[in-house]
Amino acid sequence: MVKTAVLVSGGGTNLQAIIDALIFGEIKNCELTAVISSNPDAYALRRAEFAEIPTYVIDRKIFANRASFSEAIHKKLEDLDIELVVLAGFMFVLDPPLVRAYRNRIINIHPALIPSFSGSGYYGLRVHEAALEYGVKVSGATAHFCVSEADAGPIILQKAVEVREDDTPQTLQRRVMEEAEWKILPAAVSLYCEGRLEITGRAVKILGEPQDGPA
Ligand code: GAR
Repeated sequence: MVKTAVLVSGGGTNLQAIIDALIFGEIKNCELTAVISSNPDAYALRRAEFAEIPTYVIDRKIFANRASFSEAIHKKLEDLDIELVVLAGFMFVLDPPLVRAYRNRIINIHPALIPSFSGSGYYGLRVHEAALEYGVKVSGATAHFCVSEADAGPIILQKAVEVREDDTPQTLQRRVMEEAEWKILPAAVSLYCEGRLEITGRAVKILGEPQDGPA
C-alpha cells in the first residue's frame, strides 16, 4: 500500500472525491494516512475527520516565509513516512528542496488545460476568470507531477470541459470540478499507486493494468 498524504487549503471537494473513490474501491493500493491543511479553518479538515483520517494543520500564517513553511511540511511528511503527496486545492507553491526530495511523487490538480491559464498567479477562481476573459470554448483540468516551477511538471491526465456563453467563473468552476477534477485526480492517484506511470522527461506513459498470473 502506498502511504499517501493529501495537502489542502480550502473546501476540500477534491479531497472528498479521493475519499469517495477509496471507499468505492476505485483507487487501488493506496492508504490515505494524513490530511495536512495550510489553513486551520479549511472545511477540508472536517471532511477528513468525518472519514476518520488523521489531520494536521501547518498554518501558513505563522511562518515568516515560504521556505520555512515548506520545510515544516517536509518534516511532517518525513515523520509520517509518506510516499505520495497529493495537492488537492493546496494554494501554495512548495519550495525546491521539498519538490526535489519528492520528485515524481507529488501530484497536483489544476483547474485548466495546462499550459493554458497556469503558472504563478493562476489558482482557484482566477483561472476560470482568465479563461472566460480570453473567450476559450473549452477548458478543463490537469493532473500533473510537481516541479519547482508552478504547474510545469509532467502531465498525467487531462480532461476537457465545454465553456458556455452564459458561464460565470463560478458556474465554469463547478462544471470543471464535476466533469474533470473529481474524476481525473482519483484516477491519477490510483495509477500512481498501482505502479502504472512511466515517466520519461516530460512524458508520462500509462501502462496497462497488471494481468493476473496463472492460478
Ligand atoms: C480546485 O478547483 C482546484 O483545482 C484549485 O482550487 C480548487 C480547490 O477546491 N486548485 C488550484 O487552483 C491550485 N493551483 P477544493 O478545495 O474544493 O478541492
